[in-house]
Amino acid sequence: MDDPASPGQGRDGELAATIDRAVEILARAQYAVVLTGAGVSKESGIPTFRGEGGLWTVNGEPPMNGFQLFLEDTAGWWRQRLERRRAEEGDPASFARAVDEARPNAAHEALAELERLGVVKHVITQNVDDLHRRAGQHAITEIHGNRHWMRCLDCGARWPASEFPVDENRLPPRCARPGCAGVVKDDTVMFGEPIPDEALARCDAESRLADCFLIVGTSAVVMPAAGFPLLAWQRGAALVEINPEPTPLTGYAEVSCRGAAGAILPELVSAVRTRRSAGA
Ligand code: APR
Repeated sequence: MDDPASPGQGRDGELAATIDRAVEILARAQYAVVLTGAGVSKESGIPTFRGEGGLWTVNGEPPMNGFQLFLEDTAGWWRQRLERRRAEEGDPASFARAVDEARPNAAHEALAELERLGVVKHVITQNVDDLHRRAGQHAITEIHGNRHWMRCLDCGARWPASEFPVDENRLPPRCARPGCAGVVKDDTVMFGEPIPDEALARCDAESRLADCFLIVGTSAVVMPAAGFPLLAWQRGAALVEINPEPTPLTGYAEVSCRGAAGAILPELVSAVRTRRSAGA
């Protein structure tokens, strides 16, 4: 079996057939929506959470009640957070350093190109690494937040983290909005933390409009994110999965392309662009 991560030069016949099928579905789509997970950033050097070599496979999963623990002692949480950040800055192998140094890869760029071609109307990403935006994706919901932003838990105000210095002598950081003074934390959703209503509403609305749903690089085990492709499927959308491994959504997919997103998506985009320009 050829290396599925490098289709094109002598690529596996089965993978080629699935890519051709995916092109057919995407080329005729009127409203394609995408769900991405950590796998789409793998080729940017950011480890996934689960599966072989995943952050949690190696280090164990974080507590499922992280948000409750935060609320019990917000100042203590922030003290640990600042200590961890200092340690990570000195550790070239840390996850934080991998994310800080990451650049968008060919998969992010391909999805941004599909938006420019008018094929992809919205991306729902579970990733907090900002790489879709940096690749030029505009119609996007970062359902688990964005690590480069801070958010007030009371009024929902958001600031770029670079514009919100945290004074370790005044923890927890408080909202700068007049009359609020709510506790401020990273704008990344913790286990047990509610996802902001407007993000959920947007994902729901986009999923109901989709006639095609691309599922890229996610193990599809975390709700509500993994439920959006099913919502679209129930309304007749065709699901296309891009993942080296099967997931709980594989059984609902019209086609699953078994390979790396950074290799498969550029091929898809190139073929869809050709079809679109030929008016096929
Ligand atoms: N291209 C595409 N997919 C890949 C690649 C690749 N190069 N490499 C790995 N994958 C796939 C894996 O097979 C796996 O199915 O990416 C998926 C990564 O799964 P997870 O590590 O579980 O990441 P994700 O699905 O994003 O997790 C969802 O869980 O804990 C929460 O907040 C966390 O947002 C995250 C959510």
